[in-house]
Amino acid sequence: MQKAKITDSEAAIGVFDSGVGGLTVVKEIFRLMPNEKVVYFGDTARFPYGTRSPERVKYLALENSKILLDYEIKVLVVACNTASSVALDYLDSAISIPIVGVVKPGAYSAARATRNGRIGIIGTNATIESQSYQKELSALNPQIQTVARACPLFVALAEEGWTVGPVARMVAETYLADLRLSGIDALILACTHYPLLKSVIEETLGSGVRLVDSAVATVEEVRRLLDGDGALAQSGVMPNHRFMVSDAEERFRQIGERFLDRPIQDVQRIEVE
Ligand code: DGL
Repeated sequence: MQKAKITDSEAAIGVFDSGVGGLTVVKEIFRLMPNEKVVYFGDTARFPYGTRSPERVKYLALENSKILLDYEIKVLVVACNTASSVALDYLDSAISIPIVGVVKPGAYSAARATRNGRIGIIGTNATIESQSYQKELSALNPQIQTVARACPLFVALAEEGWTVGPVARMVAETYLADLRLSGIDALILACTHYPLLKSVIEETLGSGVRLVDSAVATVEEVRRLLDGDGALAQSGVMPNHRFMVSDAEERFRQIGERFLDRPIQDVQRIEVE
């Protein structure tokens, strides 16, 4: 859908995810655009999305977007790789404000990072099955070769806080052994949770593989979009962020502080079906 120019620079950036993982994207917003106000919704009642059908994820993604549209937001960021992979076009045709997903920026950044044209992709089952990253990469450069692998246990490890140590190493070794032999020189972390496992992934694959974090690339894209419209927040006042979930606020707060690397004061619960 053709989007109008953003005029209200002081409106918030709306971000949704299936749960707590999208806070890795919010962390980058706080780092790269500290003046911006964030309204976040994590659909913790219906988590995870990575094992659901595309139809269900599309439905949930639209519901989440509608929740955020009730707040004054100037752009919608789909932080969830699964939702971005299967529902972005659907959302884009249904919603009038600009939408940024994580797939395009992540693929673009990987295409720039690779030297030998061989890129690995790791994500949820739904993300890998959708082939979303493979399609973007081949549109950018048809010569690029890809190797993909779903790594669902990484999500649980990140939430449990087991991001280093023997269990994390064993899971990483089991998932990534084939990728290590495949000759890739870049790996897309195509899931919100995987940036927390960077060090064990790096250790497993060796220093010859550059890790591409979709969260960073996505926030850079949001910044470009806002800047292009002259809509970056200007105020030097500490923005008043809002965090909402559909279930288990306290669990979200506790795990979220680790993902965000800073305290979360208030988490509000929103009823969903
Ligand atoms: N947020 C999801 C993603 O980035 C991971 C967790 C889930 O399966 O919902 O794909």
